[in-house]
Amino acid sequence: MDAPRQPTNVTEHHRSPIEHETTSHSTDHADERYRIVTEQLSVYFDGKPAIRDVSMVIRTNKVTAIIGPSGCGKSTFLRALNRLHEIQPNARVSGRILLDGEDIMSMDATLVRRRIGMVFQKPNPFPAMSIFDNVVAGLRFNGVRKRSVLAEIAEEALRRAALWDEVKDRLRAPATSLSGGQQQRLCIARALAIEPEVLLMDEPTSALDPIATAKIEELIYELKRSYTIVVVTHNMQQAARVSDYTAFMYLGELVEFDKTRNIFTNPSKRQTEEYITGRFG
Ligand SMILES: Nc1ncnc2c1ncn2[C@@H]1O[C@H](COP(=O)(O)OP(=O)(O)O)[C@@H](O)[C@H]1O
Ligand SMILES: [Mg+2]
Repeated sequence: MDAPRQPTNVTEHHRSPIEHETTSHSTDHADERYRIVTEQLSVYFDGKPAIRDVSMVIRTNKVTAIIGPSGCGKSTFLRALNRLHEIQPNARVSGRILLDGEDIMSMDATLVRRRIGMVFQKPNPFPAMSIFDNVVAGLRFNGVRKRSVLAEIAEEALRRAALWDEVKDRLRAPATSLSGGQQQRLCIARALAIEPEVLLMDEPTSALDPIATAKIEELIYELKRSYTIVVVTHNMQQAARVSDYTAFMYLGELVEFDKTRNIFTNPSKRQTEEYITGRFG
């Protein structure tokens, strides 16, 4: 077994889960604060690195923002957490991703995607389906059939996504009849319906107007009570508003990772400062 590697960009002490396994109280000792730990995570496309040696922690029930100029690897990092690269023949992933201390590569991919939900930049409801059917699509896929159960979970998910009041009288209407902002909340409801622990959001508001954006930001703030959230954004004000921790990536590398307040008021790296003050990117 490899020696435990410490995330190099993290200042706080983190005990590798490998250590935990060798103790007699491994579950008691599991570090609850870190929902996800990445160790030297690299992703290559056609042999070319898109992200390199990203070692980072995602804290439980916090919002972690990932910022950085276009093309720096934000989406690539996020998609790796959901094991989306393996369905792409030109991609290769190295390093480790631990979910509650367990390597996600040795888990069933469907289980990983059930525990880690994802919302994309462009709202992508299933166009041929009703609002209701969209929300319960994942449940049905997992074999849930009972109407009363589906109805109950759909309502709960739509409430959590702050969409229930707007759609409760038209659950049978096509998802495409909703506005862009509503469609994105529908996608969030769809993700929440399968009860994930982590919600990954890749620029979830970049296709939305300011009012719809504000609604999603409020929602993110609400959701972190129950979920661990990672949000990619190229909007720095958004990162500052919604996140507790911020990672700044540049050219495929994690330049700086810290409390959001520190990143925006007192970054320790020159590149971070130049980026947040708008000197490049
Ligand atoms: N499927 C892919 N095939 C080849 N190259 C890719 C693929 N996805 C991303 N890349 C490349 O990886 C780098 C990082 O992209 P991406 O993660 O999308 O950046 P960001 O989300 O920060 O804008 C870019 O150079 C991009 O062209
Ligand atoms: Mg992207």
